[in-house]
Amino acid sequence: MTHSVEIAPSILAADFASLGEGIRAVERGGAMLLHVDVMDGHFVPNISIGVPVVASLRKATRLPLDVHLMIENPEQYIQSFAEAGADMISVHQEATAHLDRALSMIRDHGCQPGAVINPATPVSMLSEVLGNVDYILVMSVNPGFGGQTFIPNVLEKIRHLKSIRERYNQSFRIEVDGGVGPENVTDLVRAGAEILVAGTSIFHTADPAEAVRAMKQLAGGALAQRA
Ligand code: DX5
Ligand code: ZN
Repeated sequence: MTHSVEIAPSILAADFASLGEGIRAVERGGAMLLHVDVMDGHFVPNISIGVPVVASLRKATRLPLDVHLMIENPEQYIQSFAEAGADMISVHQEATAHLDRALSMIRDHGCQPGAVINPATPVSMLSEVLGNVDYILVMSVNPGFGGQTFIPNVLEKIRHLKSIRERYNQSFRIEVDGGVGPENVTDLVRAGAEILVAGTSIFHTADPAEAVRAMKQLAGGALAQRA
């Protein structure tokens, strides 16, 4: 199966006082998704944004909103995020005892469900839900903060997921999040990643539109080699 590669700018690294401008810049650069990090100060040691910001983003862009829930009790908030305008919602395997139920709830609310694993969680923890997800998000940093260093052994996890997908003829997309930038895009796409989340390497540059464009180009080149 041929997948395309999408760059998903993470607004966590944008200037929240001028979020609209940041979004327009990454749209110009060819971003196909916006990644929205929701943190509760419990599941991760940081607090970010919640439902009202997703509702505002929904009015500010037509890009699909990829909402990454780093919160305890994710089931309790799925409906609110779906109603606020999320298109994709991902929940951490580590955050719920009822991952399968949470994924079904996301689908029932009209969104694409994704399951996320932290760096210390093996791919095998997801074996029973691979048929019930639209995407798997592999964390390449310990979640909670932008600007952290990429953990390279995630490449092996991505290769493993890709080979499972081929062996069982499944169709979930593979997303990677944390420390992603031009220096590792080629390796990530060759390994099997199709959605590349990037915050710092886009919004902390002088020209976020150009940063997206450059990563897209690298990703496209690597995908051609992979096919
Ligand atoms: C980390 C978040 C990431 C973060 C990535 O917990 O899930 O989406 O914004 O930021 P960078 O690209 O700066 O590592
Ligand atoms: Zn994220």
